[in-house]
Formats: sequence, structure tokens, C-alpha cells
Amino acid sequence: MMEGAGLKEQQHQRLAASGQAHLLRYWDGLEEGERAELLADLDDCHFPESLCFFRRAAQQAPPEQQQQQYRVDESMEPVPKEVQGSVSRDRERLPGWQAEGLHQISQSKVAVLLLAGGQGTRLGVTFPKGMYNVGLLSQKTLFQIQAERILKLQQRASEQFGHKCTIPWYIMTSGRTMDSTKEFFVKNDYFRLQKENIIFFQQGMLPAMTFDGKAILEGKSKIAMAPDGNGGLYRALGNQKIVEDMEDRGIAYIHVYCVDNILVKVADPTFIGFCVEQQADCGAKVVEKTHPTEAVGVVCKVNGLYQVVEYSEITLATAQKRNADGHLMFNAGNICNHYFTLQFLKDVVTIHEPKLQHHVARKKIPYINDQGQQINPDKPNGIKMEKFVFDIFQFSKKFVIFEVLREDEFSPLKNADSQDGKDTPTTARHALMSLHHRWVLNAGGHFVDENGSRIAAIPSMKELTDLPIKCEISPLVSYAGEGLGKHVAGHDFRAPLIIDENGVHELIKNGL
Ligand code: UTP
Repeated sequence: MMEGAGLKEQQHQRLAASGQAHLLRYWDGLEEGERAELLADLDDCHFPESLCFFRRAAQQAPPEQQQQQYRVDESMEPVPKEVQGSVSRDRERLPGWQAEGLHQISQSKVAVLLLAGGQGTRLGVTFPKGMYNVGLLSQKTLFQIQAERILKLQQRASEQFGHKCTIPWYIMTSGRTMDSTKEFFVKNDYFRLQKENIIFFQQGMLPAMTFDGKAILEGKSKIAMAPDGNGGLYRALGNQKIVEDMEDRGIAYIHVYCVDNILVKVADPTFIGFCVEQQADCGAKVVEKTHPTEAVGVVCKVNGLYQVVEYSEITLATAQKRNADGHLMFNAGNICNHYFTLQFLKDVVTIHEPKLQHHVARKKIPYINDQGQQINPDKPNGIKMEKFVFDIFQFSKKFVIFEVLREDEFSPLKNADSQDGKDTPTTARHALMSLHHRWVLNAGGHFVDENGSRIAAIPSMKELTDLPIKCEISPLVSYAGEGLGKHVAGHDFRAPLIIDENGVHELIKNGL
């Protein structure tokens, strides 16, 4: 084994060539374990490649924000009507699309791919977000809810078509979340899915940089690093041979989604069926953006190519533009929920990925100063580099969007609970319970109050601000509200109510 001094000398030479020798500033005072930690981080930094990314990304960053806004605004067009589907405007076509999607699932041609490599900084937990329990009656985590939706769909497709089928679940984690994610799945016995059909893979990490391209020391033996964005997906798919694994399993269509949307319809047969029928190679589920100032990216065309334009990239005047029918002109709100054919993914991985640029985000990055003190800066002192999953829309030959209802399908968990907070554990919990409440009503059930009087199906304005009715339906009983009639039609229930594989449980009657 190389002695400390020799090792330092060797590292010094290598790092100096990339202008990063400052990372060894505290080497002499480090314990053996700390040196190993620093060496592991240095390995993950992949200098000089990451510096190359930094230079390219820096060149791309617009010198004048204002100019950029004008450029994007002037070249933006909405997504044409012909490539749009909608759960509200195309009601009569939904059963056909759903049947097509279920057929593909029954042929084991559909896989799901979960983006779970984020750090969840805003939520502020130290464990992967998928392990978060938002406080549902069942105390299920996001991972468990998604696993059970997959299980249920497999069962439905198998029953309907009379043969067994599988929906493989590809889970992308980062270096920082891989071990804990895997352990969680093992501890929970893979939520009754088959272990061999859950495939974990790891995205890359990149060092955070100062504005002049120096990696930042977060501690004496620790480099500030972050995953390379959810668009790091494509590189990871290539270098970990995931596309080959999909091919070996006979997969043709992939549904990609984010870990933090509690309402996500994993492998949604209707969305898949729509995209298959349209012969699309790439599709995005969207929700209607209704307020001009809502901070959501919109799917649109820029210079003839599809992309997501963030709210911050356009002027208010563009955000406010409306069609004759009163809807916002740019209203296809991106919810990070996508469909790709395997062939499209293959082309992206083998041909297009290297052309993708990293986006630059200016961040406040905690660091250790020359005196060895930990500093939490109060203004941005560096950048993080990220690719985005939607960066590849531009390469699609047949792109489609599918508009769904926000209250049915989108409630992301981003922030910790706070008074009137947006996208918090409370809003996620309420969104799920309110959806399940509506499912019970649609299936002919009712809720009564403590006096036995029926609660109005459409809440009054006062009640809208109240807590939702506590009601939770296991995905193992119903994937999207189907099949509930036999459990609830004609019955009056007192909340809290759970419907799971063991039956219908009114927790108050059960003394819980
Ligand atoms: P967000 O951009 O909301 O990031 O991720 P986040 O990590 O969950 O939260 P913050 O920004 O640190 O507070 C949207 C989705 O993309 C995934 C996340 O796991 C989430 O499902 N993601 C994000 C990755 O898979 N990799 C990344 O590098 C970043």
C-alpha cells in the first residue's frame, strides 16, 4: 500500500493538472478513515471531465438574462392540438386507450422507471424521499404506495388476459441514497413484488464548483457533491447497461416518473395506450397551468423543437397570453411524468446524450474556509450542474402530450410542513384522502357525521377549508377507483375509513 506522503504527492500531481490541488489543503491533519473518505470523493469527481462540463455549462449560461427571455418568448409556440390527448376532452376514447395499455402490460412489454436520486433538500430529511410517510391512516410510505399500484396492475392485466405478466421496476438512486433505498426494500420484503423484477441503478455525482471552476470542500475530508440531475438518467442507463436489460426482458414502452408525487398512476394504462395508439416515441403527461404566475414549467415548442420552458425564463406578458377560449396559451404544465419507447431511449443513450448540456443552478453551498471554519453562505457562492429528464424531448420524432386532472394525479412532496405550505406532507396526505373520498362517492357510498347525517357530497365553501374526510383505499383493492361498488355502494360510513384487502374498516367502530 502506498504511504501517506507518496499518496498525497501522487494525488497532488493529478489534481494540480486540473487546478484542484486545494482539495488536499487539510490532508496532513486527516485521520486514515478521513483520508479514505476524501479519496473516495475525489474518485467520484471525475476530473478533468467534470471541469469540461463546467466550461461548457458556463459558456451556455446567458450573459444577459433579459436577452435570453426575449429570445425564448419570441420563438415559443404551444403544443399543436393534433398531438394532444386529454382525460376531460376525450372521455369517450379513454376506455379504448386503457384497454390498449392493459394489453401491452399483459404482454409484459411495459416497464416503469422511478427517478429517486434526488437529495430532497427542501423536505429536509436525511433518508430517501420514497421512504417518507406523510401520515396516511395506513402509515404507508411513498415507495409502498407505488409498489402496491404496480402489483395491482399486474394482477388486473393477468386476470383480464388470462396469463401472468410482469412490470419491471427500474429505480434510479444516487451514490448517497443507493444503500438505504436497497436496505428499505429488503426490510419490507420488496413489498411483495418479485425481487428480480426490481432493478436498482445509480446516477452520477458532480462536484459543486465556485464560479471560477474550483470544487468546493464541504468539510476537511468531504467534497460538496450533488447528483447530476434527473437527466443524469440517460448516462446511467447507458453505463449500467439498463437499456440492454430492458431489451432482454422484451420491454417496448417505459413510464418514467418522480418519487415524490403521491398520486402518481404508475404505468398508467390509459396514458400508455394513448401514446401507443398515437405511435409516439416520447410523451409527457401534463396538468393545466391555470394561473400565469404559477411556478411550473410548460411543455411547448421552441424554434420548432419540443422542450419545457420554466416560468422564470419567460416574460409575464407571455405567461399571461390566453386563447380565445380563455385558457392560458402556454398551459401544458410539466409534472415530470413521461412515456418513452425503448427504441427512443436507445437512440438517446447511444446518440444524443453526449450532446446534452448541463444546466447551471447558482446555490448557497456550505464550505470550510481557510481557517477550517464551517461557513453557511447567505448568498450564492457556487454552482451545481444538472441535466433534466425532459432535455431529450427535442430528439423526439413523434411527441405527444396527455392532459390529466391535477386533483386526480398530481400532488408532489417537496417541502417540509409549515403554515399554509405548498407541496408538503399535509397537502400530499389531503390530496390522496380527498381523491379516495371521491372514489367512494362515485362508487355509490356515503359518509355520515357523528350524528348519522349524511355529509354533502359537494362540500360547502366553509368545509372546503376544513380537513378532508379521512379515507384511504389500498392500491391492492383499487388502482384508480375501479371495483369499489361491491364494497361501498349504498353504505353509510363514518370516517376514518380504510378499505384494504382485509375488508372495510371504520376505525371509530373498531375502537381505533
Ligand atoms: P426535485 O428536482 O424536486 O429534487 O426532483 P429533489 O431532490 O426531490 O428535492 P430538492 O430539490 O433537493 O428539494 C424531482 C425528481 O427528480 C429526482 C428526484 O428524486 C425526484 O423524483 N431527481 C432529482 C433525481 O432522480 N436525480 C437528481 O439528481 C435530482
